[in-house]
Amino acid sequence: MQYSEKVLDHFSNPRNVGEIEDADGVGEIGNAKCGDIMKMYLKIDGNIITDAKFKTFGCGAAVATSSMATELIKGKSIDDALKLTNQAVVEALDGLPPVKIHCSVLAKQAVRCALSDYYTRQGIDPVPIVGEIREPEE
Ligand code: FES
Repeated sequence: MQYSEKVLDHFSNPRNVGEIEDADGVGEIGNAKCGDIMKMYLKIDGNIITDAKFKTFGCGAAVATSSMATELIKGKSIDDALKLTNQAVVEALDGLPPVKIHCSVLAKQAVRCALSDYYTRQGIDPVPIVGEIREPEE
């Protein structure tokens, strides 16, 4: 299995690892098949994601994709974060082996999960905005 330089870099030197104590949205998602879990913390000011941190208990690709996902949404609007696809995460990492694509789905779902929590905390039903968050089935 071949990993790109970027995947190896984000695995060995992940960006934005940790927790945000006064986060505005926190999401946790797991993949029942592989047992990996991601927890995503977002700080949101107005419509902008001012900070994002994560903790991932999982494979190297799960660490690399969550690291890249936080980099891609930091400083962006909530709308941009909602549009983040797992393909965008994979592309930003210069690709992933096919058996590891589901790890990028987990990263996308972790972001959506945290946004869903953000709306819930605001007293807004997240489902019409974020959709139902399901665990990746692959
Ligand atoms: Fe489970 Fe990578 S093997 S997220």
